[in-house]
Amino acid sequence: MKIAVLPGDGIGPEIVAQAVNVLNALNINITMQEAPIGGAGYEAAGDPLPDATLQLAKEADAVLLGAVGDWKYDKLERHLRPERGLLRIRKELNLFANLRPALLYPELANASTLKPEVVSGLDIMIVRELTGDIYFGQPRGISTLENGEREGINTMRYCESEIRRIGRVAFDIAMKRNKRVCSVDKANVLETTELWRQVMIELSAEYPEVELSHMYVDNAAMQLIRAPKQFDVMVTGNIFGDILSDEASMLTGSIGMLPSASLDANNKGMYEPSHGSAPDIAGKDIANPLATILSAAMMLRYTFNDEANALKIENAVKKALAQGYRTADIVTEGCKQVKCSEMGNAVVAALN
Ligand code: IPM
Ligand code: MG
Repeated sequence: MKIAVLPGDGIGPEIVAQAVNVLNALNINITMQEAPIGGAGYEAAGDPLPDATLQLAKEADAVLLGAVGDWKYDKLERHLRPERGLLRIRKELNLFANLRPALLYPELANASTLKPEVVSGLDIMIVRELTGDIYFGQPRGISTLENGEREGINTMRYCESEIRRIGRVAFDIAMKRNKRVCSVDKANVLETTELWRQVMIELSAEYPEVELSHMYVDNAAMQLIRAPKQFDVMVTGNIFGDILSDEASMLTGSIGMLPSASLDANNKGMYEPSHGSAPDIAGKDIANPLATILSAAMMLRYTFNDEANALKIENAVKKALAQGYRTADIVTEGCKQVKCSEMGNAVVAALN
């Protein structure tokens, strides 16, 4: 098994190092090779996705990614900015299915800003389409109108086949869970998502056991805070999924807890925490590595079909939390506040 390791920027390198330690501590046959992406790619090769990095990622069975972005690159031309490297690698590898599980570990019920009774037992799978929508639609850009005023344009678009393939992913996952899919759209206003809803309804005929419901995105944002346990699988487009998954992460105590998998049609995948590069705390060894470690578990599950070792990592995370270890973002009274590397060590120690 070949893994391309792309630490990226900000806290990326420190959190990825902990996930690599965890993978190395398992008795599995993997080789890992590192390459720069994002700001690090720009520094190394003048490109947020250097050719060599893309090549390595294409040849690998899976990609483990940290995070990209730093304010110091905000002034660069858009195509040179770190985020563009991330969007391009998703597109180049055809990683259209982004799975973001929001799962509350019982030990963290008090770390959430919501009341424990609202979030305890939470287990939602957000399925976000990742290679279409307003993120990639043409035309786009900023231009100057005849009257001299500037205008910004992005285009929300989805074709049927794109909607159907992400819908399939959601329905298939629901079949292994509680058999409920909530499709999130804005069909009352946006034609793109009116089509989205129609296609989801058509597709649901192939899954008679799955209960399909629909929700407008504004209501979904509200329901996630009001009564998040009503959800099993949520499926939605790129931009709504971006927003709702950040929101859902806070239900679990911290965005530092939310892993993700981005899969192509053959379950080749890129695995990364759902959070960003947090340049403000980079290099301080205080970031939470658990989302990245849990992303490595997802890699074993989805790309390598190694459920046993995936569970081993997840149970080790549970054990480290049960032992009271907490990084700064999830610390509550009576727990042991530890650094990023210490949390990684605690998970490695808990593997056995
Ligand atoms: C995410 C991030 C990215 C996105 C950014 C960094 C481009 O927010 O993975 O959710 O918008 O998809
Ligand atoms: Mg996001």
